[in-house]
Amino acid sequence: MNKHVAILAAGKGTRMYSNKPKVMHELLGKSMIKYIIKATKKSDFEETTIIGGFQFEMLKEHLKDQKNLTFVEQKEQLGTGHAIKQLKQHFKNKQGALLILAGDMPLIKEKTIREMMKIHKNKKNDLTLLTVEKQNPENYGRIIRHNHRIVGIVEEKDCTIEQKRIKEINTSVYIFDIEKLFAKIDEINNNNAQNEYYLTDMISIFNKLHYKIGSYTITDESEVEGINDRPTLIKLTKILQTKINNEYMNNGVTILGSDVLIGPDVKIASDVEIIGNPIILGKTTIGSGSKIIGDTIIKNCKIEENVVIDASRVSDSKISNNTQIGPFALIRANAKIGENNTIGSFVEVKNTKTSNNVKAKHLTYIGDSEVGQSVNFGCGTITVNYDGKNKHKTKIKDKAFIGSNVSIIAPATVGQNTMIAAGSTVYGELPDNSLIIAREKQTIKKDYMINKKEKK
Ligand code: UD1
Ligand code: CA
Repeated sequence: MNKHVAILAAGKGTRMYSNKPKVMHELLGKSMIKYIIKATKKSDFEETTIIGGFQFEMLKEHLKDQKNLTFVEQKEQLGTGHAIKQLKQHFKNKQGALLILAGDMPLIKEKTIREMMKIHKNKKNDLTLLTVEKQNPENYGRIIRHNHRIVGIVEEKDCTIEQKRIKEINTSVYIFDIEKLFAKIDEINNNNAQNEYYLTDMISIFNKLHYKIGSYTITDESEVEGINDRPTLIKLTKILQTKINNEYMNNGVTILGSDVLIGPDVKIASDVEIIGNPIILGKTTIGSGSKIIGDTIIKNCKIEENVVIDASRVSDSKISNNTQIGPFALIRANAKIGENNTIGSFVEVKNTKTSNNVKAKHLTYIGDSEVGQSVNFGCGTITVNYDGKNKHKTKIKDKAFIGSNVSIIAPATVGQNTMIAAGSTVYGELPDNSLIIAREKQTIKKDYMINKKEKK
């Protein structure tokens, strides 16, 4: 059977009060819609179609790193039924099953989708609905059954008092037979409380035609909770946060902090200790024995083993084994820090590769540089990499010793085993095994202060 996916993502999300589409809002650094795309990945669908509308270009840009997506525009957002109608042309000569999901339910599990697909196929359904019994079903479409058979869905605003008591709700996950759906989609009208074209009307349309409607009912409410406002966004973020952190703790990671945030695509080995409330996001990996301490933020980094990162910011970079970072360091933009380095307080390292045993313990900027083994940076070293127009490179060879308060004006090469005296401003090719002194000679005026006083 051919399988397709369509994700509804055209809505503005009025109650988010935001300039970006609702489905682009993030939980732990990843947007709602990317969670949904990921959950559908393992069920090998032929193609995923995204229906966008509000800020369509922004949405397309946001998803350009995703494979195998087709975009269809819903220019005016006249309801979920109207959104699916926009796909009619696209599915004209296609057959099989179409899984439809709302883009605002990020906690949907990949397993749920697979189970639902199985039921749809095995029972030869024309339509399969995903439903859940909700303690508080308010604002959701209610599932109407006659003798257990599903006969319709009624939206909250169209419910009678009786119907409002129904706790089984529509999750906005459907699997339709493609041909039957698009043959009948034009029968949806907007005669309802919101004057919208509801996709949910397809259920009574299918029922009247005696098409086979089935359902899969799950128990975990949060999995299918739709995000319509910020309090719900935060509520689901916290559910996810607790789940991720508990999973790590049960797999040998110490997490001692009340509000540690770890993104869904992070990978942390056992015997890592996380102390304080760091934020660890993106495609970050952390190797065994490492310690992440305090108010640290790490994004898209490869952290190897036995690394300590204390109260620092590290992004898009690699930190190798046994290296110490911080407190208060900034490592960014494709920095590659070697093994057994010390990058200390108020040190910034940008787009730089360091070899092993490099030390920069305080108040230093190393940018666009290549640093050899066992190089020592004194306090207050600056690689002067920017001339106002272009960035230039600095190369510092093995065992160079850079004294305190040195400026190295790039482009520059510091030779192997060369020492630069404190307070120097240097540039160009500096040979190996040399001492470079580039500062004003000191003048001593003996008894100057005493004589100055006497003159008065
Ligand atoms: C919808 C369902 C409701 C269900 C609930 C589950 C309908 C009519 N109602 O209600 O039965 O219980 O989801 O969360 O379908 N969208 C478009 N184009 C539009 C309107 C919406 O693409 O014209 C998209 C939105 O971007 C969103 C999704 O459809 O991702 C659902 O829309 P939303 O307005 O959140 O529907 P609900 O009122 O929550
Ligand atoms: Ca919703």
